[in-house]
This record gives sequence, structure tokens and C-alpha cells, in this order.
Amino acid sequence: MSSVKATNEQLMRRREAAVPRGPFNVAPIFTARAAGAKLWDVEGKEYLDFCGGIGCANVGHNHPKVVRAVKEQAKQFLHTCWHVSMYEPYVRLAERLNDLVPIPGPNMTAFFNSGAEACENAVKIARTFTGRSAVVGFERGFHGRTLLGMSLTGKVHPYTAGFGPFAPEVYRLPWKPFFHPAAPGDREVEAGARAALEDLFTYQVEAEEIACVILEPVFGEGGFYPVHPAALAALRQVTEAKGILLIADEVQSAFGRCGRLFASEHYGLVPDLMVMAKSLAAGMPLSAVTAPSPIMNSPGVGGIGGTFGGNPVSCAAAHAVLDVLHEEKLPERAQAIGDKVMAAFRDLTATHDRVRNPRGLGAMCAIDIVDPHTGLGSKDKADRILAVAREKGLLMMTASGCVLRTLMPLVINDKELERGLNILSEAIVATA
Ligand SMILES: Cc1ncc(COP(=O)(O)O)c(C=O)c1O
Repeated sequence: MSSVKATNEQLMRRREAAVPRGPFNVAPIFTARAAGAKLWDVEGKEYLDFCGGIGCANVGHNHPKVVRAVKEQAKQFLHTCWHVSMYEPYVRLAERLNDLVPIPGPNMTAFFNSGAEACENAVKIARTFTGRSAVVGFERGFHGRTLLGMSLTGKVHPYTAGFGPFAPEVYRLPWKPFFHPAAPGDREVEAGARAALEDLFTYQVEAEEIACVILEPVFGEGGFYPVHPAALAALRQVTEAKGILLIADEVQSAFGRCGRLFASEHYGLVPDLMVMAKSLAAGMPLSAVTAPSPIMNSPGVGGIGGTFGGNPVSCAAAHAVLDVLHEEKLPERAQAIGDKVMAAFRDLTATHDRVRNPRGLGAMCAIDIVDPHTGLGSKDKADRILAVAREKGLLMMTASGCVLRTLMPLVINDKELERGLNILSEAIVATA
């Protein structure tokens, strides 16, 4: 029997006994239902959701068109396995993404299940295409929890500590020359980025051995820092000159979140490969790698894929998501949301010395919560603010411990957005 009447606390006790602590939880609540930009816990409490399933709900929770598409597909078949008996929605979704990504093409797309799996496959594809083995990520970068995903991830706790040995032939660029928000002028930034690349080739690995650099145009877990345009331009120029493929990991930043369908579009970036997941299928497990066909066709038959990759129900959800993003002009809406959020964040920064560094791209915005005496990030203070906000009905989460980040569904209306931002402000005042 399901325990519909159980309280959060009762379920929490069962969770603690039955599920390890590793799969972390943002809030000690259990969901009963979710719709649009709201969710309700098992005790009936309503929350405004600024997490959106960690960036999976750009079109909102349970968008009627997505739910309908899922139901329709479920009635036909749940799974045949793409490798056994193919289905049209997979091909059509590949066609749509091939046209939508900011890569001229002609492109091809393969589907997987998670962001980490797509990152891994992008690297496999880059290696077969270039015949090179080295892979470069960034300090602060996050690419998931699989062996290669965490090997590429540039943060120790909690992602890599204790999990070694890691995948070989992984190197890292420093984050500051590329992402530092207090960047000087474009010339200095470009020079810094070029110097960092030169150092990489001189002291870590020969350029001719590098298959790819993987970059999030806006750091997700690394703290929502958008890459500096001048640094990105230098990176693109150098990688092209050295025959190194550039992988844009847009797992968190894509599908309207940043004010365009892809964050790369803000920069005029043409990556060699695009990695997508999260909001692609509104929370149904689906990820994708898209690139020009010679790159995508470099692994042999059977070299990439997987039992569940490109599940038909997930593909159906993704078709509905792409329709909704377009029909409801959600990328434009993200920009309007981001403008309001940034105005509120600037106010908070001006009035509270614990709140610093408002930043973002579109609706992918963040502030740091710091100890005002040291200026260092304070995870404790950030956690306290979020606990009070939760009491008041706002679900929000951190990145990098002390960064408050916004991943609200883009269907949030102005009243809900204002209410959420007011709750955050009240929580900051209440925890002073
Ligand atoms: C930029 C980025 N890449 C990769 C991943 C890993 O995705 P998943 O958790 O679906 O494996 C994430 C997850 O947050 C992410 O933000």
C-alpha cells in the first residue's frame, strides 16, 4: 500500500534508513504534485519552485502538452530499444536538434539518458574523430558523476574526493582567465586566456594530443559564471588552429534558460559538438549530442548508444518541449525574468553586506552569500537563508555551496516571480 497520508518527517525517516546519503536532497520534503512553477508536498504545503528539478523544468512542471505527448506515446509503446526496432520520433527529434543547434551542419544527433552520459559520449566521439586521447576541462566545471564525468569535473568536494583513481588523459584549464566576473578589459582578458592555453600546452599536454576541450558557456554547479566573450573567442580561435574540438556542455544552460535557445548563441559561438540534457524532455530522462555528420559518424557501428538511450516516451516529451518553447516564446520570457531577478539581486547586494556578485545570463542568475568580515563564501549562511525561504514557501538551491542560483520554470508569471523574490529578500533579512 502507498503511504499517502505519511508526513515529510515520517518519509524522511524511511528515506534515511533505506537510501544512502550520497544522492543528496535540497529540501527535507516529499512531493505530492507539481504544476507550472509550483509544487506541493505530501502535507499540502505549496512552494514556489526556483529549482525546476535542477534546471529540467524550463517549460514548467507537468505542462499539459508534454503530459499529453507522454500519455499518447505510452499508449503506443514504452520501449522497443532503438537498437532493435527503430521509431520515427527519435529520427524527427534528431532532425529538429540538427536544425536548432548553432552549428551549420549538416548535423547528426545521438540520444542518451543523462547529462554525464552525453558528456562521456561527446568525448568518445571527439577521440575517434581526432585520433587523439587527451581531454581538457575547467577548474569549477561540472560534467556529471560517471568516471569520465567526474574526472572532467573541476571540484573536489563532494564530486571527486575518495573516488579515485580517475580517468587518465584529463587536463584542466584555470577558471579565472575565462570566467572571472571582475574581468578587466577585453584585451587583457583575451591575453589571459591565451596565456592559460599556452601554459596548458607547455606544462601539461601537447596541443597535438588534445582531442577536445569541454566548456560550459555558463558554469552550472561551478557558480553560474558566464564565460567572458573575449576569453571564449580566444579559446575558439586557438582550438580551431590546433585541430582541437570544442564541446559546448549546455546541459544546464540550454533550452531557453539563458534568453536564447542555447547560451552559445549569446556569444556567436559555433562549437564542434553540443551536449544537451535536463530541460530537453521536461524531466523525462533524455540527453543528446549533436555535431556535423563527419564528427558524429566517426565511432563505428555499436560504438555509441545504449539500451535506454532515446527512449520513445522521452522523445515524445522532447517534441512537446520544443513546440512549447517556441509557441510560448520562453527564451524571450527568460530574458525578462532574468532582468527582474538581476534588479532584485542588485538591490539585495546594495542593502546587505552578506550578498555579493550578482551575475547571470538570461534567467540563469546567481548571488554569493559571504561572511562579510572575510568576504569568503559562507555555505552555513546560504543554507540558513534557504531554510527560512522554504518555511515561507520558496524552494531554492545553492551551487558551489554558497551561491544562490535561479532555475525557476520559465512559465512562472510576474506575480509568482515577485513573490519568490520577496520571500528570498525576507529570508535574508530574517537571518541577518
Ligand atoms: C553542465 C552540466 N553537465 C553535466 C551534468 C550532468 O548531468 P546528469 O546529472 O544528468 O548526469 C550537469 C548536471 O547538473 C550539468 O549541469
